[in-house]
Amino acid sequence: MQKELDYTSPDIEMRILEASHLEVPPADEPDRQYYYIAKAREIIKEKAKEAGRPLLFYSKCFGCQMNAKDSEKLSGILHAVGYAEAGREEDADFVIYNTCTVRENANNKVYGRLGYLNGFKQKNPNMIIALCGCMMQEEKVVAKIRQSYRFVDLIFGTHNIFKFAELIVKTFEQQGMVVDIWEGTSQVVEHLPIERKYRFKSGVNIMFGCNNFCSYCIVPYVRGRERSREPEEIIREIKDCVADGVIEIMLLGQNVNSYGKTLEHPITFAQLLKQITQIEGLERIRFMTSHPKDLSDELIAVMAGSEKICRHLHLPLQSGSSRLLKQMNRHYTKEQYLELVDKIRAAVPDIALTTDIIVGFPGETEEDFEETMDVVRRVGFDSAFTFIYSKRTGTPAASMEDQVPEDVIRQRFDRLLKAVQEIASQKAELLTGEVQDVLVETINHQDKEYVTGRLSNNSVVHLKGDESLIGRILPVRLDECRGFYYYGSVAE
Ligand code: 5AD
Ligand code: SF4
Repeated sequence: MQKELDYTSPDIEMRILEASHLEVPPADEPDRQYYYIAKAREIIKEKAKEAGRPLLFYSKCFGCQMNAKDSEKLSGILHAVGYAEAGREEDADFVIYNTCTVRENANNKVYGRLGYLNGFKQKNPNMIIALCGCMMQEEKVVAKIRQSYRFVDLIFGTHNIFKFAELIVKTFEQQGMVVDIWEGTSQVVEHLPIERKYRFKSGVNIMFGCNNFCSYCIVPYVRGRERSREPEEIIREIKDCVADGVIEIMLLGQNVNSYGKTLEHPITFAQLLKQITQIEGLERIRFMTSHPKDLSDELIAVMAGSEKICRHLHLPLQSGSSRLLKQMNRHYTKEQYLELVDKIRAAVPDIALTTDIIVGFPGETEEDFEETMDVVRRVGFDSAFTFIYSKRTGTPAASMEDQVPEDVIRQRFDRLLKAVQEIASQKAELLTGEVQDVLVETINHQDKEYVTGRLSNNSVVHLKGDESLIGRILPVRLDECRGFYYYGSVAE
């Protein structure tokens, strides 16, 4: 069994070389994709020769951490077939957008950018434009693109992203738009090239899809049913990452707390997490996203028992009104959520709690909204993502009556945001003066003499330093709090 491969590794080259001698594509995955990588390499080499320069790609990712991980897989393939990365969209020969559809404005962004891309394609007719991800799983989106954005060359969805190399070849060989959307899959294809964005941290998928069907949410329709990866595969991937220098991993899934239930040999998320804490050399473990209804005492105990598990829990509330939570199909009440928070804080006192909240769900009254504000004040979230309810066609909430007027939603949204920000900055202020470990992640975007990193609780810290600090965990004194982030200095 091979590890999740980096596109530059000798193992990858060996597999591509072997595949290049095959006359017909193998039926089994991932061998089949290695055959197409080799084939795409030939095509792109030829095209680069014609152009008299290397061909370039530009990849843009919309949406969540799962999409970000998928985009690393896309870049891995693009590199493996011979594209180099372009700094700007307009210079690219291959542009790919990995799309999100959780809210309508995510879709609008993609349509907006497509119009803009068309201008570049007029100048470079060989430019290939590809679209993939959640938005493409919606029939009406694909119909619209076929009709109004005919210059798009390739469309595929969330279930067959592993087929990217094969689809690249098809795009070169076939006239007209290539469209390949699957309704679902039970397949989990592993061991393909990947380009990790960071050397020292990595996302690791533990499961795909979601079975919860919260009534406002389109994810179960576009990401399909819940599928967990085998624990041995996950552990192996993490160990390989660690051997490559990774010290922080983020376990990814739409609802990590229900991990493992559908496996042949079921295992709980808490059991998986405990095994991961035992991996030597791994310093920090994060996970996303937890559903309050499935968060077990066992998980809380595992979190309390290991310093490696970061002091951060993202626990989407969505609404503080038990009546609306029922309508949302969330399977917990306001009181149960508050009890859960108390239990977590009792076991892990220094934990940062963050959340997602939707404003303007159909039928939301002023009283419902006040319940949400009450939870916000009582819990004191360290940070919260606040969303205006977006109607997603095909979800049960889309056909609910009593859609809330826009001006009422706006006004509630502003009140909520203000409360969330005030509370978050008060919470952040409490740590000022403390010394905490920071994992340095990047050079500061604004000031090149600074670097930026994160505390275990996920807060951002800026400190003086250079590239040599990237990927290191350092003790840092939090000198100054600026609302949501800190300025710090390395503590001797
Ligand atoms: N409208 C607004 N927000 C939504 N979310 C999911 N679906 C919708 C929707 N239709 C939010 C939820 C979820 C987060 C990822 O996106 O808060 O937790
Ligand atoms: Fe959507 Fe609910 Fe599943 Fe989260 S748990 S992805 S909000 S259906």
